[in-house]
Amino acid sequence: MSDQQVNTLERKPVILIIVTLVVILIGSVVTALLPFFMEGMEVKIDTVRPYTALELEGRDLYMREGCNNCHTQTVRPLRDEVLRYGEFSKSGEFAYDHPFLWGSKRTGPDLARIGGKYPDSWHVQHMVDPRSIVPQSNMPSYAFMADRPLDGSTIQSKMEALRTVGVPYTDEEIAAAPATLTGKTEMDAIIAYLQVLGTMINKAPVETVTDSTAVADSTAAPADSAAVTPAEAR
Ligand code: HEC
Repeated sequence: MSDQQVNTLERKPVILIIVTLVVILIGSVVTALLPFFMEGMEVKIDTVRPYTALELEGRDLYMREGCNNCHTQTVRPLRDEVLRYGEFSKSGEFAYDHPFLWGSKRTGPDLARIGGKYPDSWHVQHMVDPRSIVPQSNMPSYAFMADRPLDGSTIQSKMEALRTVGVPYTDEEIAAAPATLTGKTEMDAIIAYLQVLGTMINKAPVETVTDSTAVADSTAAPADSAAVTPAEAR
């Protein structure tokens, strides 16, 4: 472009705006949109499975009650977070979360690795009366959930809807779903959900140094890479 042409473009504000927008658009498509369609951007974790019907209902109750307004579900790869909550979150762990519930506010602690941390009975007690466990807690009581039977009437359509966005539920699983919910309460469902959170990855094994050469072995894989099994290229 000659100086003459540049000057002409700069003197025409409307055309300049349009040309600028087109350039930004091209930039956005290349840097933000294209990666959505590139294989290898998502690391698939073989041990991550879709939620069971009961866990799925629990997840919906978690959203209904707005637990995500006070709790996050993502452990950042920062030293203090990993020490407090455990293994940091991997993108592949959220493959079947529609929508994901990472949250952005931690009035209460992160729940991404809550599964298996306490027995079910602890959760019942805590949900019924949080202050009986943590006196200064400002978490509301959810005692009513123990008395409310779970409404399983929409579970099949929920699973079918999730299947259209890529969650691999089989026809058999969908057919069997309502039966697995009979007799359950809302409390059963939300606790089933809490207990599965963060448990679908193989956590890094505790490192035990057996001989002095192991320490010096600079080729040893870092602990975090052992936790994820990237699937072979799909
Ligand atoms: C007003 C904010 C608030 C809301 C809403 C809330 N919580 Fe909490 N939650 C807290 C606080 C604060 C704590 C830490 C004190 C305690 O254990 O009670 C906590 C603790 C917890 C813990 C224990 C975490 C740990 O590692 O010890 C669990 C589990 C939990 N909440 C689940 C839930 C669920 C499920 C819901 C929705 C039904 C919910 N919370 C809604 C504030 C909240």
